[in-house]
Amino acid sequence: MAFRSMDQLDVKGRRVLVRLDLNVPLEKGRITDDLRIREAMPTVKSIVERGGIAVCMSHLGRPKGVDEKLRLAPVAARMSELLGRPVTAFTEISTDAVAQAVKRLPAGSVALLENLRFDPGEQKGDAGFTQRLAALGELYVDDAFGTAHRPDASVAGVPKLLGKDKVAAGFLMAKELKAFAQVLENPKRPVVAILGGAKVSDKLAVVQNLLDKVDALLVGGAMAYTFLKARGVPVGASRVEADFLEECKTILARARVRGVEVLLPSDHLCAPAFESDEARACEVIPDGCMGLDIGPATAARFAEHIAKAGTVVWNGPMGVFERPAYAAGTRAVAEAVAACPGYTVVGGGDSAAAIAAFGLASRVKHVSTGGGASLELLEGKLLPGIEALQS
Ligand code: 3PG
Ligand code: MG
Repeated sequence: MAFRSMDQLDVKGRRVLVRLDLNVPLEKGRITDDLRIREAMPTVKSIVERGGIAVCMSHLGRPKGVDEKLRLAPVAARMSELLGRPVTAFTEISTDAVAQAVKRLPAGSVALLENLRFDPGEQKGDAGFTQRLAALGELYVDDAFGTAHRPDASVAGVPKLLGKDKVAAGFLMAKELKAFAQVLENPKRPVVAILGGAKVSDKLAVVQNLLDKVDALLVGGAMAYTFLKARGVPVGASRVEADFLEECKTILARARVRGVEVLLPSDHLCAPAFESDEARACEVIPDGCMGLDIGPATAARFAEHIAKAGTVVWNGPMGVFERPAYAAGTRAVAEAVAACPGYTVVGGGDSAAAIAAFGLASRVKHVSTGGGASLELLEGKLLPGIEALQS
């Protein structure tokens, strides 16, 4: 895939619309994880240090219209701290007042538009909204990897409107795409994919695509129980998506034909109810009990495979890792990924949160800032935000 890079844009004295994914978790107005903000700053810095004007834009959460709790002001404040320079936080998106104010911004300044999703035109890809946004800048840089799977106005519409010679990929976008290319195109073998999370239905497209690319697939989390049931293993009252049993059987058969080793949990931590923290280790899940984490033998078997891998990609926790009673499986996998000398990539969302919670993020080669976006890349899809950048 060919992209114009940031360095190829002459930004001096020009207004650059910069789409970032500043959709960070907030608790009572406080940012609880600023990874996405930190990772987006090199691009903004590069624009202003070269005398450009960075007109940044992002969504936050999933508001229906204006929502006071989802204003971007706290994000602008954090940006300002990280950049060491003021950030003008607009309280509107694309009104005439904003358009006038943006034109008055001096070279080297940074502004942040209000939450794009306050306008329903953003997610609808509305033509009028796209035009008003595009009119705020002369150039466009997309650094919102985490939003690349959304065909929204600011992601897909604006770059199309401005035209290819005015558009470039930001540093974070380039870094993310390079990391996933290293996993998906000609990776160092053996390639081990670790998949987890609650719903097997969310991961089937990923599994289908990865079967052509990996040597081993390690499956944990609740999604493993549908696979175990498909293999005829008793799973007690564990979460199973019955509608997907047949597809899981087909996948297991395809994996056998392709010589891909699929490792499912062989022991578990289980409890009589989801809410219960009475974790019991077992090899066979008793009737009436549900599995909530992989057991120690499984964790050790997974770790052995990870240690020998040339490339590892991990998406989805092994159990209910937010609760200490069921964190051990995810922690063991996180430790194994951190210790692996091969090329290691952790998908965004829950797995990125887990690796950070265990203090191991810096020991992984790449922690993605995109949850849904990284998943769709692993599915082999061409994402709208990436398509819009191709030159
Ligand atoms: C994300 O966190 O997944 C991205 O910021 C996109 O947000 P969305 O899932 O609400 O579209
Ligand atoms: Mg999402």
